[in-house]
Order: sequence, then structure tokens, then C-alpha cells
Amino acid sequence: MTTSPDQIPDAPPSTRKRRVRASGGPPHGKPAPFFGRRKGKKLRSFQSGLMEDLLPLVRLDLSAPLVRERRDLWLEIGFGGGEHLIAEAAAHAGLDFIGCEPFVNGLAKALAGLAAENLGNLRLHNGEAQDVLAALPDSSLAGAYLLYPDPWPKRRHRKRRFVSDETLDALARTLRPGAELRFATDIDDYAGWTLARILRNPHFDWTATSARDWLTPWMGWSGTRYEEKALREGRKPAYLTFVRR
Ligand SMILES: C[S@@+](CC[C@H](N)C(=O)[O-])C[C@H]1O[C@@H](n2cnc3c(N)ncnc32)[C@H](O)[C@@H]1O
Repeated sequence: MTTSPDQIPDAPPSTRKRRVRASGGPPHGKPAPFFGRRKGKKLRSFQSGLMEDLLPLVRLDLSAPLVRERRDLWLEIGFGGGEHLIAEAAAHAGLDFIGCEPFVNGLAKALAGLAAENLGNLRLHNGEAQDVLAALPDSSLAGAYLLYPDPWPKRRHRKRRFVSDETLDALARTLRPGAELRFATDIDDYAGWTLARILRNPHFDWTATSARDWLTPWMGWSGTRYEEKALREGRKPAYLTFVRR
């Protein structure tokens, strides 16, 4: 990982103050465009069984209150196969977790992982995180994870990246003061992209004081499937922690 704070592209922190919109969605209430895959291979029969039997028990109901009283709530955006999300929920029975993943095959994988656990603190949304952010009340999140989001490396596709001024505003609205936004990527350019947008957002601080801070994962870190692949292929991840002001 070669990115350092002074190498951030278009990074000069701006003093521009933007208002945090009441809704986490894009302007004018249009649904956020989605460019990823929603479906892959046909599900195997045991996976279809889990979708029928287990999913209804853990599916997030966006029309019901999302936050339980006196329970801290964490959000994981794009949980992939759910390895990290399930490990976190199992390790922190006193916290609530919501995971979002539009890719059905990822969801099915997470359900298989979940079937082996008896977790009452995890709900899953088979869709974009923007839907959940828009439904969450102000300052309702104790923390959020965005781990190895799709990198969209081609210049003309970078606007498809999850991190944008709009999604950061939605996160700023829903994270309570002091809450952490934890971001990991193995793509240097995405780290720089994210830092540039965080530094011009008036609602977040980047906590790093030395390279060690962004080269070291969080305490109790269990890793993710994409991280394993990145490490195998020789890419060093960056772990960026942002705190809601
Ligand atoms: C590169 S994968 C990483 C998966 C997992 N976090 C990991 O590290 O193994 C990125 C994931 O984000 C999901 N994703 C893409 N756009 C999303 C969105 N708007 N909301 C939630 N998840 C999204 C994709 O479907 C994909 O599974």
C-alpha cells in the first residue's frame, strides 16, 4: 500500500460546508443506480431451501422500526458471503447488526454460514445499502463497515463507486457523533478517492496519525473473502477509520 495522506488525488480539504440531506437517497428521491450483479449461478437446492426457510426469519423489514431500544446498531455495506458480518455478530451478542448485499448468491452464502449459528442480533437486507440508510433515523448507527467495495477501476466507471459525496452524507446523517465508519480496500486509488471525499466532508475526521494506523486492521479483525484474495495476489489493504464529528 503506497498511498499516504499527502498523495491523495484532488485532496485539498475544502472548507465547503454541505448540508446533510434528510434522506440518504440520491437527489430528487430517485433510487440510486446499481451497476453490480444481482444474480450469479443458479442456487443449489439447499441454498434455495435456506432462502425459503431461514431468510424470512432474518430478513430486514424496512417498514418496521430498525433500531431496538438500548441496543447499539452496526451496519455492514456489501457483506459479500457474510464471513465478516457473521463473525462480528457472533463475537458481539450485545450489539445489533444489519448487513446489506444485493447479490443473491452472496446472501445465500451468508445464510449457509448463519444456519450454523444461533444469532438473534443480525438482520439481512437483499438490496442496496442506500435503501437502508434512507430508512434509518438520524444518529441511529453506532458504526458502519464498508469492506472492499467494488473498485470500478476504469476511469469512466469510477462514478459507480459506493463512496460518493451523497453516500457519505447519508452515512453522516445516520451515524451518531463519535461513531466509526470503517473502510477497507486493496485498491490504492480507491483509498485516495475515499480520503479525498472524507476530507471535504465537514462531518467526518480521519483518525490516522501514522502509517501504522492504516496498515493495521481493527482489533478482533476476522478478515473477509476479498481480503484473502487481495493478500494472496500480493496487494496490501488499507484500513481507514473515520469518526463522525
Ligand atoms: C468486492 S465485493 C466485497 C464483499 C465483501 N465485503 C468482502 O470483502 O469479501 C463488494 C460487494 O459489495 C456489494 N455492493 C455493491 N453495491 C452495493 C450497494 N449499493 N449496497 C450494498 N452492497 C453493495 C456487491 O454486491 C459485492 O458483493
